[in-house]
Parts: sequence; C-alpha cells; structure tokens
Amino acid sequence: MCGPQDPSALVQAHYTNDDIAGRIVVALRKVIGKEAPITPDVLAQIDHFHGGGLAATRDLVAALQPQAGERLLDIGSGIGGPARWIATTFKCHVTGIDLTPAFCRAAEQLNQVTGVADWVRIVEGSALALPFEAASFDRAYSQNVVMNIADKPGFYREAWRVLKPGGVLALANAAAGSNGPPYFPAPWATTQEASFLSSPDETRHDLERAGFEILRFEDTSAKTRAARKALRERIEREGLPPLGFHVFMGERNKEAQINAARSAEEGRIASLEILVRKPAG
Ligand SMILES: C[S@@+](CC[C@H](N)C(=O)[O-])C[C@H]1O[C@@H](n2cnc3c(N)ncnc32)[C@H](O)[C@@H]1O
Repeated sequence: MCGPQDPSALVQAHYTNDDIAGRIVVALRKVIGKEAPITPDVLAQIDHFHGGGLAATRDLVAALQPQAGERLLDIGSGIGGPARWIATTFKCHVTGIDLTPAFCRAAEQLNQVTGVADWVRIVEGSALALPFEAASFDRAYSQNVVMNIADKPGFYREAWRVLKPGGVLALANAAAGSNGPPYFPAPWATTQEASFLSSPDETRHDLERAGFEILRFEDTSAKTRAARKALRERIEREGLPPLGFHVFMGERNKEAQINAARSAEEGRIASLEILVRKPAG
C-alpha cells in the first residue's frame, strides 16, 4: 500500500524525527554530567517509550521471566530501551524489530553508546511479516505497539509462528475504553487514521484464534490512569521535565501526553497486561 492514507506511512511519519540518538545524549548529559557513563539503566529515564517507562518494563519482565542465554524478540522495539535493559539485566540476546527507520537507527546508535551491540540486534521490518524462521525465539514481548496495527490477528499469528513450542509472549497493550474514542494527537498517533484500538474481549479472541493459551489477562487501566494523571498534573504544574519523550518526539508530545491522560481518566483507553503461551506440543 502507498499514498497518504497508508497506515504504515502514517505510523512512521508520526514517530520520525532527525538525530534522535543525538538529541537524547545531549539532554542526558545536561542531567548526568559530561563524564558519567551512559548505561541502559541510566538511559532508562528516557528510552522506555511507553506510559509507565521502566516501571512498566519491570512489570512486563516479572511475567516474561527471561533466562540467561535465551533468545528474545521485542516486537516494535522503538528506540531500543527495553531491549537494552532486558538483555543486560538478564544476560540474554534480544532482537528488536521496528517499522520506523529513524527509530531503528537511533536504537543502533544507542546500542553503540551503551556498549550492548553484541547483545541487542535491531532489524527494520514489520511485525506483520517477521523476517525470522519459525520457532526461532524462546520468548517474545511487545509493549504499546498493537495500537498502531489494524491487522491484530496477523500480528499475533506472526508472533506465534516465530516462538518455539512452549515459548511465551508478554504484551502490554493499550486497548479501547468503553467511553468513546481517545483524544488526538495521542502519544502513538497524530490522528485516528493511524490508531487501531481493540477491546479487551477482541484482544482475547484474537490471541486464542492465533493458537495461544492465555496464562494471564489483566485489565490494568486503574494503575495506568493514576500514572498518566500524575504525569499530566506535573506537566501542567511544572512544564516538561528535562528528560521526557518530547526530547525525541518534539514539543508536540506535550499535548499528546496530556491527551493520553485525559483519555485514560475518561475511560477512552484501557490498558492490558497479558501473558500467553504457544502450546508445547
Ligand atoms: C509507542 S512505541 C513503543 C516502542 C517500544 N515498544 C517501547 O516500549 O519502548 C510504538 C512502536 O511500534 C512501532 N510499530 C508500529 N507499527 C509497527 C509494525 N507494523 N511493525 C513493527 N513495529 C511497529 C513503531 O515504529 C514504534 O517504534
């Protein structure tokens, strides 16, 4: 597909900016000083690009339980923060795949800056056509990605295909709330043409149709609502912090963060934490 209404082009345009890694390093240096080493832990103040940041990644890995030496897939890996942090914290090999070339470049540059390039590989491509052999990963995860994807059955089918039998997939999904559409611009889409939220029931159905066993399926909207509300109040009171997603998404991200909080507070978006397994045999 091509042209202005191609959802992939809209998604890429939404996330693209120039010199993303450079902007992040400059902002970080102002906070940590000229000499301090830049590690995945230090970068985690800015590069876990989802509501909840590092705390949300910690929740995800508590369910995922990565083991040393395993091969993990991060679907929609963004600028690579979760992949770097998980690879170094759990001593496993993480492959990140992402649709947005500017994010893949930034992820690779930040891998070099943090010295993790041997542990984290970045591949540019689509979650709907994963360029990997069947059964090539022990575990997989995806945080705040499916809201950009219309073909969710296709997304889950591809994840199922590349997992080894018995492998698990952990998801943190933004989902449709029961109170109408979200406000735009949202952190994941400038307009509704690049936003595809499905309901919790539709999500469960799609996962089961793809062949997954559901191990955990939790609506965590209350937790996300509280975090987003606190962030909105802080931005409205103090303005943007020195380190935040606006550093690489631009000032327009301020309105998007406030909108996401309003959408969560009004029940226009929901949050799901999910763990599913590809049956062992
Ligand atoms: C909100 S960001 C989350 C990034 C990362 N998961 C994180 O938590 O730091 C959503 C990401 O999904 C990616 N994405 C959207 N549609 C995709 C697709 N069809 N295939 C692969 N990546 C996609 C975007 O390029 C973007 O990097």
